[in-house]
Amino acid sequence: MIPGRVVVLGGKRGLLGMPLTRTLTEAGYEVVPTGRDTLDVFDESAVARLLNDFKPDYVFNTIAYTAVDQAEDEPVEAAKLNKTLPRLLGQICLDHGSCLVHYSTDFVFDGTKTEPYVETDPVNPQSVYGKTKLEGELALADMGMEHFLCLRTAWLFGPGKINFVEKILGYARERDVLRIVHDQVGSPTSTIDLSSMSLALIKANARGLFHTVGGGKASWCELTSEAVAAAGVNCRVEPIMSDEFPQKAKRPAYSVLSTQKLTEVTGFTPRPWVQSLREYVYGFLA
Ligand SMILES: NC(=O)c1ccc[n+]([C@@H]2O[C@H](COP(=O)([O-])OP(=O)(O)OC[C@H]3O[C@@H](n4cnc5c(N)ncnc54)[C@H](OP(=O)(O)O)[C@@H]3O)[C@@H](O)[C@H]2O)c1
Repeated sequence: MIPGRVVVLGGKRGLLGMPLTRTLTEAGYEVVPTGRDTLDVFDESAVARLLNDFKPDYVFNTIAYTAVDQAEDEPVEAAKLNKTLPRLLGQICLDHGSCLVHYSTDFVFDGTKTEPYVETDPVNPQSVYGKTKLEGELALADMGMEHFLCLRTAWLFGPGKINFVEKILGYARERDVLRIVHDQVGSPTSTIDLSSMSLALIKANARGLFHTVGGGKASWCELTSEAVAAAGVNCRVEPIMSDEFPQKAKRPAYSVLSTQKLTEVTGFTPRPWVQSLREYVYGFLA
């Protein structure tokens, strides 16, 4: 007997959607991944028809506006994907009795803490991206859904789609020196590990808000150094401060997330990000 039916919105081409589709399929779930070419997620009747016909136990929403700096110039488009879409999906899932699994971000925090953020810590996003993602979380929380999971994640890397690690290794291969921000610290996370954490949560019948990130912490400079070393690229990596690399969107100086609640509920302890990064680089980028 199959453990359940699942729709993965963004499962065809998304950075997270692709490994999530694979992980759930390998775990025996019947999975329908979607892409822009197969489903217009803003067409309510089309989404409702899919849920009515397929009757999924879970709808995973990996679709988001994720271009953090560009969002500062496109707040309306960012809000459409990060706030309006989750609310629309929440209502359709409520109507059809499916559990919605939604993803959010460490950028809902302002970065003033000095120890890992827990789920109950106050939020205070500093960017359009962070604000719109928080609005999505709140819109769903306000609906009082009984069957709802919100997973905050961060600093994703993994195979199949361009991401920070792949991009930075491209630069490292072309240059002798890379100068990378060292005063922003977060939780690098493998999309494959995040897929396993997502699976562990649904298997445990968990509901509510969870932090789901890789173990340990790093600055962008440390993440880059590890990736460059793992790939065996001859490039020096030097630390710089954020004000030496101005970016449109303000990022938290510290956004490490605690996964204690995840472990308590599922028994799953995320492995160190360095281990996952090496596996990714050796397997896909070296
Ligand atoms: N990436 C990170 O470092 C990071 C960090 C923290 C949190 N998160 C969260 O994790 C989740 C997954 O992120 P991700 O990096 O996997 O996202 P992604 O690959 O950038 O995008 C996810 C999906 O959104 C779809 N999409 C974007 N704009 C769309 C539109 N206008 N209409 C329909 N579909 C659209 C994309 O479709 P196409 O493939 O067709 O473009 C893609 O499948 C998101 O909720 C994100 O906020 C990500």
